[in-house]
Amino acid sequence: MTIGIHDISAATGGLVFTLADLAEHEGIDVGKYHRGIGQTEMSLTSEDEDIVTMAARAAAPILERHGSTGIRTVVFATESGIDQSKAAAVTLHGVLGLPPEVRAVEVKEACYSATAAIQFALGIVARRPSERVLVIASDVARYELNSSGEATQGSGAVALLIAEDPALLEIEPESGLWTGDVWDFWRPNDRSTALVDGRYSVQVYLDALEGAWNDYQAQGGAEFSSFARVCYHQPFTRMAVKAQQRLARIADPDGEARDIDRLADTVEYNTRIGNSYTASIYLAFLSLLDNGPDLSGERVGFFSYGSGAVGEFFSGVLVPGYKDRVRVDALERMLASRRPVAYDEYRHRHIAYDRVGDFETADETQGAVRFAGVSEHKRQYERR
Ligand code: COA
Repeated sequence: MTIGIHDISAATGGLVFTLADLAEHEGIDVGKYHRGIGQTEMSLTSEDEDIVTMAARAAAPILERHGSTGIRTVVFATESGIDQSKAAAVTLHGVLGLPPEVRAVEVKEACYSATAAIQFALGIVARRPSERVLVIASDVARYELNSSGEATQGSGAVALLIAEDPALLEIEPESGLWTGDVWDFWRPNDRSTALVDGRYSVQVYLDALEGAWNDYQAQGGAEFSSFARVCYHQPFTRMAVKAQQRLARIADPDGEARDIDRLADTVEYNTRIGNSYTASIYLAFLSLLDNGPDLSGERVGFFSYGSGAVGEFFSGVLVPGYKDRVRVDALERMLASRRPVAYDEYRHRHIAYDRVGDFETADETQGAVRFAGVSEHKRQYERR
């Protein structure tokens, strides 16, 4: 029996702000953003979008294609949760109109937790192969204005259907793990923007990669030379280059240049979306599926990282014919339809983001589900 990713679909915030605009207002060379961190745009959410509406938009094509039969578990991975108690998975379950015979739960460990969700899903399907698990990764990445992280903000969601005999990727059983209790990035309960020690977080990311890779090898994982591509968590896309360089140094010292070239297929969406936290590594995978060559039967590596910090390296094999199953232009169309916002509007929206008490939101999203506001402390969603 093989288990893995049977379907994948993504969504992003409905507004776009360019880093050229940010650099111009900061009076710095845009090369720092375009080449130095590898970002050209950031996706922002409109007033009536959040992690649930993006998740619903990402999941809709999957439910349209496969229905909800067999989906008895929904795991929602996020680090920008909308309630301290109720799982966003339960709200999403309602918005999607799933049947009541479902367990719905939210998981958290910074940008890593969607990978844990996938591992949990593999276990569920291994025990009962008739079941399918809907894994959601959805986040709004926000840093303080004028902070070093500001240029890496973004928003996005990826929905993944984990099932037996998958159509896209068979996930292999070996996995390399690394956990260390550090403070490189965190968001205390009283803040809606993250705190980050940026350069330290880059260092910890690379240490976690090395640790997880070594453990992957110790667990009997595949040789580095057998990977057609590696998809990395991309808090900014140049991070993937730094990661590939580190891995090449320990695993493939002769192939470094070739390996860097191969990253190009995996960064196309993240370059234009910005950081989407939990969704970022799976946007890298979707970018490869949509924009890369046909790699049927080839092995893909994944390095998932969440600050705090947890890293995991795992692998999978692309199922022959997978190219016929991907929705090649779907995310590209969504990206092209984002409404551009200029600097003043971007700043205004950033400052106005935190709203308390009851309120209604403006009708802005192009998605089928909108966050209508808060009434008696309860978040309200409506379907168009
Ligand atoms: N043209 C080309 N490259 C330029 C440039 C220019 N005009 N100006 C600067 N750069 C390069 C720098 O040399 C540097 O490259 P390097 O990393 O290879 O040395 C890169 O752009 C970034 O510049 P730097 O001065 O280090 O940026 P910064 O300190 O303002 O912020 C981060 C970088 C990553 C620390 C910041 O984006 C951040 O805090 N991000 C959030 C946390 C994060 O993403 N962590 C990652 C692990 S999860």
